[in-house]
Amino acid sequence: MTEKDFILLPYPNTLEEGSVTWESPSNIALVKYWGKKKGQIPENPSISFTLSNCKTITTLSFSKKENTTKFEFDVYLDGEKKDAFKPKIQTFFKRIELYLPFLRDYHFVIETSNTFPHSSGIASSASGMSALALCLMEIEKENIMRSFNLQEIEDLDKNYFKQKASFLARLGSGSACRSIEGDLIVWGKHKEIKGSSDLFGIKYPYQVHDNFKNYQDTILLVDKGEKQVSSTIGHDLMHNHPFADKRFMQAHDNISKLIAIFKSGDLIEFIKTVESEALTLHAMMMTSMPYFVLMKPNTLEIINKIWQFRQNTGLHICFTLDAGANVHVLYPESESGKIFEFIKNELVAYCENGHYICDRIGFGANQLTMNN
Ligand code: DP6
Repeated sequence: MTEKDFILLPYPNTLEEGSVTWESPSNIALVKYWGKKKGQIPENPSISFTLSNCKTITTLSFSKKENTTKFEFDVYLDGEKKDAFKPKIQTFFKRIELYLPFLRDYHFVIETSNTFPHSSGIASSASGMSALALCLMEIEKENIMRSFNLQEIEDLDKNYFKQKASFLARLGSGSACRSIEGDLIVWGKHKEIKGSSDLFGIKYPYQVHDNFKNYQDTILLVDKGEKQVSSTIGHDLMHNHPFADKRFMQAHDNISKLIAIFKSGDLIEFIKTVESEALTLHAMMMTSMPYFVLMKPNTLEIINKIWQFRQNTGLHICFTLDAGANVHVLYPESESGKIFEFIKNELVAYCENGHYICDRIGFGANQLTMNN
């Protein structure tokens, strides 16, 4: 697939108005995307668990307008107008208009809410941009159905809807392209993963051992403040970074390791790869110019406690991190009783106001309604 494959013939019969609702999950990367080229192309492949509970629910209402010279939209979060979100969506619309020719034809109202608190330090861009991309794809689908005959629609590849939704979501926020489906998603070309692409996420196509079924993720909210470094600035720091090339190669190697780990179910090797990825992400930030330390003292307290507990019990608990201070504690479902007790008794004390979120591997986005 190339970018051109996502440009369709103009569709002559388009909807006048309507609304559509999709919910889309967040995801947590095991091998991290950190560094990108022009056009939201990742410097290295990444792989993530799709989450179940941390979701964005977006209703997109649309009505035809006269003046088609510019994009027109309003954004609401939990019923409150959010003009601060507009620049990011304006940029998103600009990037995708080549692929969705109707964008200037409608006035849009975007009403969005998250199942996790907005000020929790959890990035909502992955779930938010993927939910919006899916709503837009639904409008495209309806417009195509009105404009072409059934045979032509059937000729469209069955995967087209999800693939294009992921392709569009990527242009909103890179990691968003991994939030369309579950439960293990690869984004970025990797020589051992058939069908992998820099343009969109795909479902991990090989065997996954039962050890990873229902894998648990308890998110410890160490710092609920605004992100100290926006991801756009963060990715930029990988340009001319002294260790960039080695890091990008390492991500390829770590995905190769995970292919073997997913097959064998080797949790000890899984832990090594995942924790090393998390610490490498932060090491990249500490060694860029300018440099940042995004962990907080409590992040380190938690990491040390996890290591101690793992050594004492032999249980397969580990952590990963995003570009912030919060800690994702990952563990197999079969050990969740003892590990969750430990989290509650020993780790929650390090969270801001004792806040944490229980999540686990999930199955991707769902359409809730379409009215027109
Ligand atoms: C550390 O997807 O938020 O979470 O493409 O600029 O929107 P943009 O970046 P974004 O970066 C996510 C970085 C990460 C690692 C990951 O999710 O792979």
